[in-house]
Amino acid sequence: MQSDDVRRKYLEFFKERGHVVIPSSSLLPKDDPTTLLTGSGMQPLIPYLMGKEHEKGTRLVDSQKCFRAEDIDEVGDNRHTTFFEMLGNWSLGDYFKQEQLTWFFQFLTDVVGIDPRRLYVTAYIGAEKYGIPRDDESVEIWKKLFTEKGIEAEAVELLNNENGADKGMQGGKIFYYDANKNWWSRKGRPEDMPAGEIGGPDSEVFYEFTNVEHDESFGKNCHPNCDCGRFLEIGNSVFMEYIKNEDGTFSPLPQKNVDFGGGLERITAASIDKNDVFATDLFTPIMEKVEELKPGLNDAVKRVFADHLRGATFLIADGVRPSNKEEGYILRRILRRVIAYQIAHDVHPDLFIEVIPLISDKFKNIYPEVGNSDEIVAVMEEEKQKFKTALNKGLNELSKYEKLTPADAFHLYESYGLPFELTKEFAPKDVAVDISRKDFERELDKHREM
Ligand code: ALA
Repeated sequence: MQSDDVRRKYLEFFKERGHVVIPSSSLLPKDDPTTLLTGSGMQPLIPYLMGKEHEKGTRLVDSQKCFRAEDIDEVGDNRHTTFFEMLGNWSLGDYFKQEQLTWFFQFLTDVVGIDPRRLYVTAYIGAEKYGIPRDDESVEIWKKLFTEKGIEAEAVELLNNENGADKGMQGGKIFYYDANKNWWSRKGRPEDMPAGEIGGPDSEVFYEFTNVEHDESFGKNCHPNCDCGRFLEIGNSVFMEYIKNEDGTFSPLPQKNVDFGGGLERITAASIDKNDVFATDLFTPIMEKVEELKPGLNDAVKRVFADHLRGATFLIADGVRPSNKEEGYILRRILRRVIAYQIAHDVHPDLFIEVIPLISDKFKNIYPEVGNSDEIVAVMEEEKQKFKTALNKGLNELSKYEKLTPADAFHLYESYGLPFELTKEFAPKDVAVDISRKDFERELDKHREM
């Protein structure tokens, strides 16, 4: 399926089930100081999940622009992106697990046409210390849904930690995991949530690419949450029903909510059985143009161009400008990475002017703010002019070191505008860079104080 069809059919499907379509919010969150950029569809809805009445009612659906800066370094593989569209539906104290899991399953199998034999699902194993029970209710619903499709659905428990999963698939279709995998809040696991934060157990759906062999470097046993590429998470139903108290315990929220999010890029990839989001129509025009501008570039580099140019386009369209602070720094970092790659791989100087109008044309019907490609290109070109001369000097300077200290990284940043991450990435192989972002930030603070 094409991405436009997945997005449209999703909105229609939930509209037919009493939901009101709400517009995507800006990537710059309003009244939410907890994150610099909108990273999930629920962020603009927090007051309503906590009980405030929403003017559009208790059933909402949208396609929300999201940006996850924490994934910048992962971009280059077949599924991570910084910018993505999250298809979201919400029940604000209205329906709960039964309707949510049934509807998402029906959407995937009956509307998108995904073979249910390729789907695997997960549920929360519970936490005695917080008095939060094992989510057997979701498991029973999943069992019934698979059985109705003629598929046997065994549930198994898995302990998954940094050493990988303790067991493999065990013929299961439904998997219980702990809070590392099946609990959702903006701040992650229950123990990481500050007082006042809302969260809840979740149930994720994974698509299996049967043509991908398990890679044991990701752990001995393959399972839905394994990162080897065999499974791709395509949707997450969060049962947002708890709030953390000052004393570290949890209380029920005034209402039981559903917060669902599914990546449009990933659902589209599953719909065409391609284990690469960059092979969907959301990215192919950009990937092909980059290939035309510099034939033979490897896939990881092309994906960085495609993702970062798309992400930068949406950030600029929402009013972000490159700077040394906060969201401006995130934009600067991805733009400078693109520029550094452009120079390092000798990619045609017209990269921006060739690619940005393609992104604009692809998305302006849904997100009109990206329509002004001339202005977006102008912001990018200006940043390039600022960075280009300094970059060559900076890279030259970098090659003079044998070992890089936090003070050196700061010097490269201060004098040549090299973001710390680029210094790490572009340091020649014989330069030892065993400093972390924290070391760099400490150095930055020292200079700020001075
Ligand atoms: N808020 C949930 C997520 O971002 C749906 O995964």
